[in-house]
Amino acid sequence: METEFKGKNIISINDLTREEVDFILDVANKIEKNPKDYKNKMAGKIMIPLFFEPSTRTKTSFQMAMRQMGGSVEDFDVELSSMKKGETLRDTAMMMKGYSPDIMVIRHKRDGSAKLVADIMSCPVINAGDGQNQHPTQTLLDLYTIKELRGKIDGVRIVVAGDLKYGRTVHSLLTALNLYKNCHVICVSPKELRMPLKFINKTNKVRIEERGLNDLKRSLGEIDILYMTRIQRERFPKGPEGDSLYNKISEKYNLTLDMLNNSQNLYIKVMHPLPKVKEIESQVDSSKYNFYWKQAENGLYVRKALLYLTLGAT
Ligand code: NCD
Repeated sequence: METEFKGKNIISINDLTREEVDFILDVANKIEKNPKDYKNKMAGKIMIPLFFEPSTRTKTSFQMAMRQMGGSVEDFDVELSSMKKGETLRDTAMMMKGYSPDIMVIRHKRDGSAKLVADIMSCPVINAGDGQNQHPTQTLLDLYTIKELRGKIDGVRIVVAGDLKYGRTVHSLLTALNLYKNCHVICVSPKELRMPLKFINKTNKVRIEERGLNDLKRSLGEIDILYMTRIQRERFPKGPEGDSLYNKISEKYNLTLDMLNNSQNLYIKVMHPLPKVKEIESQVDSSKYNFYWKQAENGLYVRKALLYLTLGAT
């Protein structure tokens, strides 16, 4: 299957079959175990990262992945680019194509932006988050983490909590779980930030329940994984109305160590795509429930696997 990925774009989790996802996760696992075997696999290859929205983990782990495998990374800073002068994304891509990068990674606030760029470029393009739509590489590392925790993805019982309306990580994750058997997803959110129907409707193999924020506590006893997400203030309407909605919600949305201890669920682990802001009490960081640091680390292995496979290195 290895050669099948060569030249492929990674735009949406919908473009991948279960076999392909499992294969990517297996390659990532080999890379985690034997990083030295992949040390020179990207030699002579150049990546352009086009990040039009803030990023810590996704950008850094892609860059580290490329460099740790011997490749190089072009230094593109949106703040210092001509996008600031009003150049369109399309024009930027048209011009970048002429420079012949080997791979491009893009994050942009507009849904569909990664596809737009992929249709222009002649190298593989990887979506690092397009607006409120998809974040497929985050989902692959989430699946990798779920598998690490449970040995398998089939049958996972998971709460996805927080901003399910704007959060692209949970949109992609829900879509991906539809590839597996007997998954049970409890969507916990305030009523203003419910999971959009278009994602629920596409997920007919997953058992989905929707609950309110007040149900978070009681849901903890029923699951393997609690997947917390940040309330995405920047995607709310601007101005005082948005501010007061944000304040109202973030006051009520808070996971404490006591809640986890009282759940009497010995196996529960907390995941979070990060960044977290106020939604997790700091004591949880040093508790046995925390799995988000390892989850973030897993991004390195999964992104190495994606670079390795899409660039057809052998
Ligand atoms: C997320 C994103 O950008 O969608 N972050 C990430 O990539 N790990 C989540 C967020 O911004 O809250």
